[in-house]
Amino acid sequence: MCGIVGYVGGRKAAGIIYGGLKQLEYRGYDSAGIATLEDGKISVVKRRGKVSVLQPYIGGLGGTAGIGHTRWATHGGPSDENAHPHSAGKFSIVHNGIIENYSELKEKYFPDTAFLSETDSEIIARLLDKFYDGDFLYALKKVADLLKGSYAAAVICADFQGLALIKRNNPAIIGYGEGENFAASDAPALSFCKQITILEDGDVAVLTADGVSIFNERLQGVIRERIVNPATPLSLELGDCPHYMLKEIREVPASVERTRTAYLSVENKVGLTLAGAERIIITGCGTAYNSGIIAKRFIETFAHMPVETEIAGEFRYKNPIITPNTVVVAISQSGETADTVEAAKLAKRLGAVVVAVTNAPYSQLTRCADAVVPVEAGSEICVAATKSYTGQLTALYLMAKTLAGQGAAEAVKSLSAVAPLCERVIAEGADIDTLADMCARASGVYFLGRDIDHGVALEGSLKLKEISYVPSEGYPAGELKHGTLALIDIRTVSVFLITSPRLAEKSANAVEQVLSRKGKAAVITNVAAVRERFAGRVPVISIPECDEYLSPFLTAAAVQLLAYKTALLLDRDPDKPRNLAKSVTVE
Ligand code: M6R
Repeated sequence: MCGIVGYVGGRKAAGIIYGGLKQLEYRGYDSAGIATLEDGKISVVKRRGKVSVLQPYIGGLGGTAGIGHTRWATHGGPSDENAHPHSAGKFSIVHNGIIENYSELKEKYFPDTAFLSETDSEIIARLLDKFYDGDFLYALKKVADLLKGSYAAAVICADFQGLALIKRNNPAIIGYGEGENFAASDAPALSFCKQITILEDGDVAVLTADGVSIFNERLQGVIRERIVNPATPLSLELGDCPHYMLKEIREVPASVERTRTAYLSVENKVGLTLAGAERIIITGCGTAYNSGIIAKRFIETFAHMPVETEIAGEFRYKNPIITPNTVVVAISQSGETADTVEAAKLAKRLGAVVVAVTNAPYSQLTRCADAVVPVEAGSEICVAATKSYTGQLTALYLMAKTLAGQGAAEAVKSLSAVAPLCERVIAEGADIDTLADMCARASGVYFLGRDIDHGVALEGSLKLKEISYVPSEGYPAGELKHGTLALIDIRTVSVFLITSPRLAEKSANAVEQVLSRKGKAAVITNVAAVRERFAGRVPVISIPECDEYLSPFLTAAAVQLLAYKTALLLDRDPDKPRNLAKSVTVE
């Protein structure tokens, strides 16, 4: 949530910060701002809108030190006033996270002060101003001690030619240059720095052009490891695609290929970590959770091991039962989702072995895991997860095979057909147009399937509502008659996923139940009998025949394209859906 960039050196800060914010826009895009420091004077520009709203002001912002922010609103709606930086006296700050005790602090220290914004963040600037007696470091430490909740904040002070960072439960990174230093919430903003340091909770870092000093919670100077920056710049090129979402759907086959190859190098470690596992709990949020639902089927079928799935935001507050030999698999594209990271930390505290499945090495999630199964989807800019979902399915399929005792080479080979088949689904995506048109006109869209198709139905529904704003639900096809059928009428569309010959007849019956209630329906299938039965009666999206357990890779590409096309028909921005951000680092 929200992106932070900071700079101090010999160059003009504003342009550098602006470039970094463009790289972090996926973290939030409802307002943006930059503060720079020139000759002991702070200048601030902040506006409601995407980062590009700042562009006309960059030339006018002088100074060689500064901070910037791109926001996803938590407290206070998107507006110029609520945009960061927030300033008080000699200070300007940008903040990611949530200050849970901001009302309390405001009441205690500023009962009569009218704040300029509705944010929880402004309190940081106000407190710094209150406790500053000429000692910047002391003020930072004093304020950090008062804050409850999660934060990564970058601060400039009119008296100090540099910037500072404080952090707890939100990522903060330092990047090193020659005669200049950088700060950011995420590595992609600093991809040009060869070396970075990931700060630890409680750290206070002070950056000048000449160096970086880091202090721990007790304000003792500490040395934190410098690591080679794993980030490559986000490729902001769209090529011939009008949107990142389409570009990233087209990259699904490459995501599968890279992820399955990468598995060969971790299989040993993963195998050792999973040895002795008797029970698996899979956790994650949103799309990552949905990939866990498919993984449950993979593991139960291949390894005959009991698996539970838990939404991370629930798991972390439910006093989970961790028995000996329980492995918790935490799935997260970003590796920074607060609920997932906290769920993994809790599992670890309770004695579970934790395996992270993530696209982000060196994320908070990987740092608390016993083993990491890499998802090599490459950077995903569109808020809607597409190629990362399929990458997660790849990693989880292979992990399930390891749990089943199958060698990696054989398992990796068993996925060799997936990428070419996905390519076919994506290339033939035009067949989805009629269905997209139906969905765009519908009052509600239901995605239905049995067994493994149910998992993809959940993801299809999430994708559609996320980027088209059409109300949607994913449901087990067999459950339709136990309640949801009451919602079916001529304005609703039911999309049936039918890939298992075993269950095809049962799901086909559910299609008939919808049609006989005058509901609209469509079928996504690779079962010949289903295709023949419904041809000419409802739109039939045909996907290639494949092993039942490879079908989610293909149906996923189909429902992703369906959501994309529906969003376009409704004139939505599929890359930046309203109210959302790519990485949710707050509760
Ligand atoms: O980075 P994560 O995988 O942990 O993110 C979890 C969810 O926020 C994410 O999958 C979200 O549901 C997607 N935007 C859905 O497309």
